[in-house]
Amino acid sequence: MPEYESHEYDVIIIGAGGAGLRAAIEAHGKGLRTALVCKSLLGKAHTVMAEGGAAAALGNVWPEDNWKVHFRDTMRGGKTVNNWRMAQLHAQEAPDRIYELEAWGALFDRTADGRILQRDFGGHRYARLAHVGDRTGLELIRTLQQRAVSLGIDVFMECKILKLLKDSDGQVSAAVGYWRPTGEFIVFTAKAFVLATGSIGRSWKYTSNSWESTGDGHAMALWAGADLIDMEFVQFHPTGMVWPLSVRGLLVTEGVRGDGGVLRNSDGKRFMFDYIPEMFAAETADSEAEGDRWYEDHTNNRRPPELLPRDEVARSINSEVKAGRGSPHGGVFLDIASRRSPEYIRRRLPSMYHQFMELAGVDITTEPMEVGPTCHYVMGGIRVDAESAATTAPGLFAAGEVAAGLHGANRLGGNSLSDLLVFGRRAGLGASEYAEGRTGTPSVDNSEVDSVIEGALAPLGRDGGESPYDLQNDLQETMQSLVGIIRTESELTAADEALGELDERAANLSVSGATPYNPGWNLATDLPSMLAVSRLVTGGAIQRKESRGGHTRDDFPGPDPEMGKVNFVQRYLDTGGIEIEPTTRPEMPEELAELLKEGN
Ligand code: FUM
Repeated sequence: MPEYESHEYDVIIIGAGGAGLRAAIEAHGKGLRTALVCKSLLGKAHTVMAEGGAAAALGNVWPEDNWKVHFRDTMRGGKTVNNWRMAQLHAQEAPDRIYELEAWGALFDRTADGRILQRDFGGHRYARLAHVGDRTGLELIRTLQQRAVSLGIDVFMECKILKLLKDSDGQVSAAVGYWRPTGEFIVFTAKAFVLATGSIGRSWKYTSNSWESTGDGHAMALWAGADLIDMEFVQFHPTGMVWPLSVRGLLVTEGVRGDGGVLRNSDGKRFMFDYIPEMFAAETADSEAEGDRWYEDHTNNRRPPELLPRDEVARSINSEVKAGRGSPHGGVFLDIASRRSPEYIRRRLPSMYHQFMELAGVDITTEPMEVGPTCHYVMGGIRVDAESAATTAPGLFAAGEVAAGLHGANRLGGNSLSDLLVFGRRAGLGASEYAEGRTGTPSVDNSEVDSVIEGALAPLGRDGGESPYDLQNDLQETMQSLVGIIRTESELTAADEALGELDERAANLSVSGATPYNPGWNLATDLPSMLAVSRLVTGGAIQRKESRGGHTRDDFPGPDPEMGKVNFVQRYLDTGGIEIEPTTRPEMPEELAELLKEGN
């Protein structure tokens, strides 16, 4: 068995996007020996793909805004299956986290009188996204990274973690991984671990997610015995690029619609007016005077229908394309050119301007963009305690996209960046407190480490087996075609069977070459998590016999009030299978329930 290096810390954070960085800063601030471990280069996390802004009820543009309205919007957007306590903490604490980020150097766009400017986004009653043009995630990462590095927090980058191991007393105590460039193995022991590994989108063919989003944290938590919830809720962002094919799925920020862009079909019609759900609209109206159209919601708020929650917009685009009214390359048109000046577009949306010009040869100041839904975010994930971000596996914490609850069945755009800050901080605190209270030195069983290493190396010693690229391709085709935006029992069952076959093929992977600089082998080590999360999503989708948020069943078109009371918990059984259990959510306190009533 190859040698491996070992490191010991108080708190290890796996993943260095916004949540991981914020958790590390907090744990370090508590005086704990803290390290960040990330698969990619520091600063290249998927957080950068939340482009349009971070939602927080600062009340700078709309003084009427406050945490209660933000809470209400988040719960309604999530179709009320959210963890209400997380939604409350998020809405209450997001403003402080934004001001803290500003104090650490984030350069937000400003109002005329010098305060943080806020942008409109779907499902938010008021314009409330603090932003930096269309590069907000990048600024968030840049600021947190600078702070973490200046504090002297140890960073292990290009280091992939394969598995978490537990002590004899059942506490998570070690993580086994390898350096991606060399393939040399590494073991971390710590008193507490925080998972902040982000998304799962690479299991689909068209996704906004970067190469890192292979569900590593979700899978490692599952294998460590933690509960996961609501994995069926997957968000398809309405606007990804559809052309050229080489960049299909790349995000087109909701900021385009937030700044006035509208969606049109091949007849030039603003089709979203045909898809306004009754729960959102009191009336639809034209305003000749303003030269615009809008609908009025139940609080007399005038809204463009392009800013309905993402699940509604993505389904509507899907329906237009299916009805033969799509754009030449299978999307619809997103038009900001006819609505805003070229100067405004270039100032507010510099990355979009550049992206379309360079990648598609489209000048968005004069031409519409072709866009369509792209797999963007998973609302489901590791079940956590709202206050401490503790998972159900002792010693393990989780924050950011890998954790579940805050967003319910559908996340509102902009809520993920503030989620990372609020719950990244809470996870850092929770893990620190746990580490401080943990007695003894976490230990690791060498034979378990050897078995993880042996499993990872197996494809290199095998001739004539499966190519990891073929397997990845077949997995992505399966998830895209059978577990997409619109789902049916027969397709989900077919997907489950196909995933079973893919699991069998995965046991026979073979890769040529050695461990250094070997992307085929790197992929082979990602595939177990990609397959595991795909099974979870499919299993949850089969069980949830209703349509809600990011889970639409053609055979169960409406929401079922009984299903609206439960989260589907999934956990690993020692026998190897996965148990799925509907679990009733705790009742919301009356003062919060009041905020969700009609008219509020
Ligand atoms: O469209 C966007 O800029 C994405 C933001 C988000 O997912 O929060």
